[in-house]
Amino acid sequence: MGSDFVENELRQLKAAGLHRRLRRVEGEQGPTLILDGRAVVNFSSNNYLGIANHPALAEAAKAAIDRYGCGSGASRLISGNMTLHEELERKIAEFKGTEAALVFNSGFQANLGILATLVGEGGLVFSDALNHASIIDGCRLSRGKVAIYGHLDMNHLEGELKRSSSARRKLIVTESLFSMDGDEAPLADIVGLAQRHGAMVMVDEAHATGVYEPNGAGLVAKLGLGEGVFVQMGTLGKALGGFGAYIAGSKALRDLLINRCRSFIFTTSLPPAVMAMAIAAIDLIRTEPERRQALANNSERLRAGLRRLGYTLGGSGRQILPLMVGDANRCMELSQRLLERGVFAHGIRPPTVPPGTSRLRITLMAMHTQHQLAQALEIFKAAKD
Ligand SMILES: Cc1ncc(COP(=O)(O)O)c(C=O)c1O
Repeated sequence: MGSDFVENELRQLKAAGLHRRLRRVEGEQGPTLILDGRAVVNFSSNNYLGIANHPALAEAAKAAIDRYGCGSGASRLISGNMTLHEELERKIAEFKGTEAALVFNSGFQANLGILATLVGEGGLVFSDALNHASIIDGCRLSRGKVAIYGHLDMNHLEGELKRSSSARRKLIVTESLFSMDGDEAPLADIVGLAQRHGAMVMVDEAHATGVYEPNGAGLVAKLGLGEGVFVQMGTLGKALGGFGAYIAGSKALRDLLINRCRSFIFTTSLPPAVMAMAIAAIDLIRTEPERRQALANNSERLRAGLRRLGYTLGGSGRQILPLMVGDANRCMELSQRLLERGVFAHGIRPPTVPPGTSRLRITLMAMHTQHQLAQALEIFKAAKD
């Protein structure tokens, strides 16, 4: 039978310790969860600010459904461009300090479409070796050549840029706060190199949006680099607590994407309730800086506690704490031991991260209490091999 490969592939994944399965969450997304029937402290969520079930988002969604209905009915370019899409885009542009913004249905779709639109045949994209899967796939779809530079390695990037003089278009793409390593791209250096070599810069702020001071707009805004970054992309599904994604940049960029970006054009637009939630989320993020402060304090507290227990942690001190294990099986065993004792810290292994760098990806939330953190540290102590 032509489909025999399915069983074979599954067998191989299981033999290599790389088989994945879905876990079920009952109830709300919070600092604790009911996961597969067991109460656990949740260190595996991107709901960093804890607003995914905030009443302000829920009320905004309900009001939007009452006023505009449930579905958007069509893609943006047909009849699915509703007032709330434009209202959210104005809000994002103001939040990010850019001329314009455009909403996408997800960050994955945004990255696929933007790279394909901006690079094209004869173009060259420079991509950090640890960029997210959606950026990697976007590079593949771009029809341009791809130069992968070592993670955060500016000498390597510069060397690649020097060799690129004949490329029709050049674009450097990086995450700002890296999703799996929790470290930060040297954005000022990247912008400087781009300017010297005539390249555009695209920054994926998926994990930075909502998190960085002063107002949660991201690392580009914090560093005052908006002028040097052609595309700022981010999602509405992590710290913003909802779903969807955005790009922020010039009006011309927005217009080109509306006209050329296939993952924007050929899909039903997001429903009104999702837009209303995002608008409410941005208001909350701007007006409640204490959430960012609580997240920073919790991250610092857990990091210090885990180091005291002898664990090795990477990252920049932000809310993503990679607890390095190395071997994939040992990593999953540690994750399982923690789970059995009441802590959910998801194991990350190849192909998501390079072989030999399996880790627990621990993510903090602003809502974790001191008691939960202390309880979790006891469990980390007991689970250590
Ligand atoms: C760095 C990065 N970019 C893009 C995405 C995709 O965003 P979304 O979840 O909105 O599809 C993710 C995670 O999901 C991510 O970690």
